Amino acid sequence: MMKKNYFSLVLILLNYTFGLQAQSSDGERYFPAEDLMNIGAYYYPEHWNEKHWERDLEKMAEMGFEFTHFGEFAWANMEPEEGKFDFTWLDKAVELAHRKGLKVIMCTPTATPPAWLTEKHPDILLVDENERKMRHGSRLHANGNHPVYKRYIERIVRKLGERYGNDPRIWGWQLDNEPHFGTLYDYSDFAQESFRDWLKNKYSSIEALNKAWGNAFWSQLYNDFDQIRIPNEKELIQGINPHALLDFQRFNAHQLAASLRFQAKILREYVAQEQWITTNYAYFKFLPSVDIFLNQKDLDFASYTFYPLSTFLNTAEGPLAHRLGSGMEMSFANELAKSQNGFTGIMELQPGQINWGSFNSQPLPGAVRMWLWHNFALDAKFTCTYRFRQPIYGSEQYHNGIMETDGVTIARGGQEYLQGIDEINQLRKQMKPVAEMPEAVASRKTAFLWKQDNLWDIMNYPHTEQWDAWEHYYMYYENLKSLGVPVTFLQETDAFDVEKYPFMVAPAFQLLDEELVEKWIEYVKQGGHLVLSSRTGQKDTDGQLWEARLQEPIYELIGSRIEYVDQLPPDTQANVKFGENNYSWNTWADILTPLEQDVEILAMHEDQFYAGKPVAVRRKLGEGSVTYIGVWTIEQDLERELLQKVYKEGGADILDLPRYVFTEWRDGFWITVNYTSDSVEAPAPKNASFIFGKRQVEPGGVSVWKE
Ligand code: GAL
Repeated sequence: MMKKNYFSLVLILLNYTFGLQAQSSDGERYFPAEDLMNIGAYYYPEHWNEKHWERDLEKMAEMGFEFTHFGEFAWANMEPEEGKFDFTWLDKAVELAHRKGLKVIMCTPTATPPAWLTEKHPDILLVDENERKMRHGSRLHANGNHPVYKRYIERIVRKLGERYGNDPRIWGWQLDNEPHFGTLYDYSDFAQESFRDWLKNKYSSIEALNKAWGNAFWSQLYNDFDQIRIPNEKELIQGINPHALLDFQRFNAHQLAASLRFQAKILREYVAQEQWITTNYAYFKFLPSVDIFLNQKDLDFASYTFYPLSTFLNTAEGPLAHRLGSGMEMSFANELAKSQNGFTGIMELQPGQINWGSFNSQPLPGAVRMWLWHNFALDAKFTCTYRFRQPIYGSEQYHNGIMETDGVTIARGGQEYLQGIDEINQLRKQMKPVAEMPEAVASRKTAFLWKQDNLWDIMNYPHTEQWDAWEHYYMYYENLKSLGVPVTFLQETDAFDVEKYPFMVAPAFQLLDEELVEKWIEYVKQGGHLVLSSRTGQKDTDGQLWEARLQEPIYELIGSRIEYVDQLPPDTQANVKFGENNYSWNTWADILTPLEQDVEILAMHEDQFYAGKPVAVRRKLGEGSVTYIGVWTIEQDLERELLQKVYKEGGADILDLPRYVFTEWRDGFWITVNYTSDSVEAPAPKNASFIFGKRQVEPGGVSVWKE
């Protein structure tokens, strides 16, 4: 172990004295611009015969990987018996990696407490909604906020911090592993108690809680906090109080954030200034219990895991979709993670076939390389593939690695990594020191207003089964990407800076307060172009409808009234008209009445008993404009065309990309990737010089060019 240097001591003192937190937006401190993107691979020394470690790490380095990733599940190896620590094996692996020229991401192993720990303290184990206690033999089965478990966590994290915190061989840190994945909610006695404490703290009096939860309804009034249990649909067969559920979800997100904060704070006492701290959030759609923005100050940045061929994702249509995967969700994952602290890297990326989908197709030849390039295009500072070697035992036996099961044959995906690494190396030589973002790209920069509460509230109580909360947000996101727009997810507490974000999209922003409406009005008056969709402003922040007209708080902003909302049975369609064209809808439509002279009617209902009434409106306000789109069309095409109109008239220079074709600009390079089953044309100007690929981009293809 290295000795702490003077500088880090000063830093620790400062940390103690002033409670300095992670510094945000300083990606370059950790990831030098000239590296563009570092590429690495997971390795589990504890899975393999020690005599092969050197061979494997050498191969990894020889293939051009620049870092590796150790330890996130190795608690039982680090502390085989209570209080008896063994880091000799890890020291050896770290040293070997270092000698081969690989940086190391070190992880805290808290996703997998050893058997002796949970045997001694079964109270720390999670309990599911059916009252089943999780047991040793899997992973992610203990509650990181339980005071007993926290004592053990603190000890192991301190040990790791002391040993590797000031060690230049360690590049950065990952806390835990995919926190909350698989076990979203804990219903243990401990969790019940913590939820009540959280509520007491939030509401102070039971009367205030009764009011916020609307407990006068169905005689749900509580006399005391002690009567409250976690709202659990397995106990509440006749339906759950949506306000209680919303609070439970908020509580959970705060709990997770607190457990990460707890570890981060301990580590910060030890880590060198050059080492970063992150966690690898599981892909967000799987984790409605997590709000990454709650850890903005604790982590240096958010990283995430992504498996493009997971059968649970939205893909393009077409015969190759299952081999190319979801470029849209990969893009979304990156831009959401990046929005936490301004930069990101992907901690796990699929290297080939996986084991856990409902079926597991082979990637199309080229797809693995395309994913790497797509991450590059999205400005990822690093890409780490999961994993170097395919496991030969355990529950992920069929999961491909960079190497095949023999450990020495490079797998198909590994070959594509070789190519990708070589190409990034070539690009490093061509990059200019500082590349200014082209005006066209800057002109279309967009803020996507994100609030986890909206997702929760809509999921809890969608009003129509056809409204899938994720789908609606994705529909807007996907349409934005087809305009070539770089997206930043903003929180309502962030500054709405018109210079930085000339466009803001806030789809189905269901819960709001007047402060946000004021902020929007200000943003628009200063020249911002705001786009809202159905459901926006329906409820207050407790999730209650206003004692006013439907969505009334936004009437002044949009200059119109929402009279009522309609929904159709799944197999029925109705139409709205924009210009000369008809667009069908089925999930949801609003019926609007303009209130102000200056309101421009964009689209109208074509049929139903409200034919001729407006469904989408726009008005100019100050220097900017606000557009309200009160319909969710089946083909998502009206939304796309309305967005195009807003961007064009708002002075943006936009692209017109087919769905599932992505074009990004990064560090002076343009990149197009194609997730569709057809060959497409890259939107490159005539004088573009292609570095990789060409104007015509095949399915799974990549084109990189300079202007
Ligand atoms: C991730 C997880 C890894 C591994 C991987 C397999 O979700 O973080 O530990 O299980 O999936 O694809």
